[in-house]
Amino acid sequence: MNILLIGSGGREHALAWSLAKSPVLNELFVAPGNAGIEQFAQCVSLDATDHRSVIEFCRLHDVHFVVVGPEAPLVEGLADSLRHADLRVFGPSSAAAQLEGSKGFTKDMCARANIPTAAYGRFDDAETAKAYVREQGAPIVVKADGLAAGKGVIIAMNEQDALDAIDSCFNGAFGAAGAEVVVEEFLEGEEASFFVLSDGVHALPLATAQDHKRAFDGDEGPNTGGMGAYSPAPVMNDDLVEQVMKEIIYPTIEDMKKHGSPFQGVLFAGLMITKDGPKLIEHNVRFGDPECQVLMMRLKTDLLPILLGCAEGTLDQVDAEWHSDPAITVVMASKGYPGSYEKLTEINGIEEAANDPDVEIFHAGTVSADGKLLSNGGRVLNVTARAATVSEAREKAYAAIERIDWPDGFYRKDIGWRAIEREAVS
Ligand code: AMP
Ligand code: GLY
Repeated sequence: MNILLIGSGGREHALAWSLAKSPVLNELFVAPGNAGIEQFAQCVSLDATDHRSVIEFCRLHDVHFVVVGPEAPLVEGLADSLRHADLRVFGPSSAAAQLEGSKGFTKDMCARANIPTAAYGRFDDAETAKAYVREQGAPIVVKADGLAAGKGVIIAMNEQDALDAIDSCFNGAFGAAGAEVVVEEFLEGEEASFFVLSDGVHALPLATAQDHKRAFDGDEGPNTGGMGAYSPAPVMNDDLVEQVMKEIIYPTIEDMKKHGSPFQGVLFAGLMITKDGPKLIEHNVRFGDPECQVLMMRLKTDLLPILLGCAEGTLDQVDAEWHSDPAITVVMASKGYPGSYEKLTEINGIEEAANDPDVEIFHAGTVSADGKLLSNGGRVLNVTARAATVSEAREKAYAAIERIDWPDGFYRKDIGWRAIEREAVS
C-alpha cells in the first residue's frame, strides 16, 4: 500500500519511522517532511491547503491512505475532501475536529454529555466576560476559543491579569481565534495526556504521557509546544485509565456520533488529575508533539493496520501492544525559541549520537543542504530513548545529546523529573 503522510515535525518523523516498519507498506510519501524523514521516505512539496492538488497527487501515485499529522489541515477540512474523493484517511472530519478547533464547542459537549471538566462561560464580548471574572474571582483561566498554536491560554493568578487577558483576546492578540473567549475555573492537580484511537464507534486506548511545556529547567519560562515528554505517565494507574475511558472518552465518542460528527482518528485528551478525580482540560484531534515520539518508541505492533482500522471502522478487530519499558524524549531547540531564533545553523554528530540501539533521533525543523544538516525551525531534534526505567532512558538520551555538536541549540536538562522523583520513592 502507498501512503501519504502530511506534516513536517518530530511527530511526523516518528509516525513515518513506525509506518516504514510495516510489511504492508509499499511506498511512503511525506509532504513536506524534513531532513530526517527524507533519509527513508519520499518527501514531496504539496500544499495541504490545496485539497485538489493533494487528491491529484494521490491519484497519480496510487496512494490509497492518507495520514494527517497536524490539526490545522483537519480543522480546514482536508480529511472531508479526501474522503469525498474515495480516499481512506486517518484524521477526523472538520466537524469532528471542532473538538480541538473550538474550546467552547468542547465545553458545551462536556456539559451535554456530563463529562467532568472545569466550570466555564463562553463570551463574544469583553464586558460580559469581565463581569463573569469579577463574579468568580481569581485564580481563573482565560482562553481564546480557536486554534492559537498553544498560545491562547492565560492562567490568571489575579483578577486584573484575567481582565487584561480578556482585552488582549478581543483586541486581536490571537487573531480570529480570540473572537470568542472561554473563561474557566482554575483546576489544581497533576496533568497527564491520554491517547485513544476511534473509528467513530469503537475505541482503542493507546497509552499515556506527560510533557514539559515550559522552555526552561524547573518548568520555568514561556510556554512552548513541548520541550520533552515521557510515556507512560506514572500518575495514570489502571483504575484511572478505566475511569477516564468511562467518564470522558466513551461519552465523547458517543456524543459526537449522536450529533452526526463521528470522531475518526486519535483523541488526545489533556487531563488534570484533581482531588475530585480526572477532569478534561481539553481534547486535541491529533497526536501530541513530542508525545507521539515516545508513544512510537513504545509501540510493538504494526502501526499501519491500527491507523487503517480508524479509517475503515474496524478498530474492534485490531490491537496495540506496547513495550512496558518507558520512553523519554528531549527536545533540542534553536536558541531564542519560543521567541525569535536563527535558522540554517549547522548541526554535526547526529549519526554517532544515535549509535545506541535504544536511542532514536527524530527530526523536527531540519533541512539538508550540500551534505550538511541545518536547523530550520524552533524545535529541531527530539532525542528519544527507551530503557527499563525513566532514569536510565534519560541517561541514554542525555548521553546522546552530549555527542551532538550544535552551538546554536539548547535543551532542558531536567526532562522527566516528576517521573524520576516517583521512581526514587517506589
Ligand atoms: P491548553 O492549550 O488548553 O492545553 O492549555 C495549556 C495549559 O494550560 C494546559 O496544559 C494546562 O497546564 C493549563 N490549563 C489549561 N486549562 C486549565 C485550567 N482550567 N486549570 C488549570 N490549568 C489549565
Ligand atoms: N505537546 C503538546 C501538543 O502537542 O499539543
